[in-house]
Amino acid sequence: MTQTFSFSLHGTDGRARTGTVHTPRGDIRTPAFMPVGTAATVKAMMPESVRATGADILLGNTYHLMLRPTAERVARLGGLHKFMNWDRPILTDSGGFQVMSLGALRKLTEEGVTFKSHIDGSKHHLTPERSMEIQRLLGSDIVMCFDECPALPADRARIRESMELSMRWAKRSRDAFGDRPGHALFGIQQGGLEEDLRAESAEALRGIEFDGYAVGGLAVGEGQEAMFSCLDFAPEQLPKDKPRYLMGVGKPDDLVGAVKRGIDMFDCVLPSRSGRTGQAFTRRGVVNIKNARHMDDPRPLDAECTCPACSNYSRAYLHHVFRSQEILSSMLLTWHNLHYYQELMAAMRAAIASGTFADFETGFHAARAQGDI
Ligand code: GUN
Ligand code: ZN
Repeated sequence: MTQTFSFSLHGTDGRARTGTVHTPRGDIRTPAFMPVGTAATVKAMMPESVRATGADILLGNTYHLMLRPTAERVARLGGLHKFMNWDRPILTDSGGFQVMSLGALRKLTEEGVTFKSHIDGSKHHLTPERSMEIQRLLGSDIVMCFDECPALPADRARIRESMELSMRWAKRSRDAFGDRPGHALFGIQQGGLEEDLRAESAEALRGIEFDGYAVGGLAVGEGQEAMFSCLDFAPEQLPKDKPRYLMGVGKPDDLVGAVKRGIDMFDCVLPSRSGRTGQAFTRRGVVNIKNARHMDDPRPLDAECTCPACSNYSRAYLHHVFRSQEILSSMLLTWHNLHYYQELMAAMRAAIASGTFADFETGFHAARAQGDI
């Protein structure tokens, strides 16, 4: 197994790319989807089940883990991989974005952010340096720069200010991260929907040099059309020979549109969270299992799906366990959704490798247009 971090590009189809991120803990096939394991668990799933869906890497969160059980405790217990029983790669987000969206009474300065815990109201401080230390204590394989961004729409002055602060924090993150062979540090591009601010941000990050580059500050209220317009230029501003990661995205059609525009990695709570609220993603679109129309339906959720929920249970049963608020409902639907997302990524990788991404995209949209039948 390789002891260093690297990215090899295997093929392209238009702007879409397929490749492999090599890490000492295993390879990540791209385009990749990372299930979210915020609190050291992908909710309702055993790690071996997450792996069985096809995941090569998980995402963890600095913000949640620093508050509970704390990074120091995870480190004493042997690191996040051992703690949660996942020995493959883990990417951790840096905390700034979560503070701004979850933390109460937050205060932002040049130094960092001060905030009150959403769990017990206790006061905490996060800086680029402290975020790098926490991610090191967790044992994260892919560390994210400490950044922040406004919700959209925001005025240009606010977007510029925030982007420039995040670029100063990116440099401080790089300096604090140091030289850690086998571990990667990713920069995060900001700049809202503005092409020139995105270009300035990309330029600043390229000057610092990172192992990968994220497109941040999207899926924050702008809508899919605006996000795609931004992705028509943002990925191209980043280095071709490094992985590109679109943070916090998204719905299945967001993933297809973003891969088409040159994105290699994604994370999103949607498949796991929706699994717990009775929403299933299928080739034919979203199925709401709580709907009464499933009550007497002996058919599987998706006849073409090979996941445990579709192989062994009827819609009627899935409807019943959801309505009864049984724990198994969350387990089965989360498994199905993660399986669907990983199959979607595998299908895109195969289509790019064979130069048939346009056909894949046509088929993807045609199946959804038919609807659930
Ligand atoms: N998750 C979704 N968007 C972002 C972002 O812009 N920055 C960080 N750090 N995490 C995110
Ligand atoms: Zn299924």
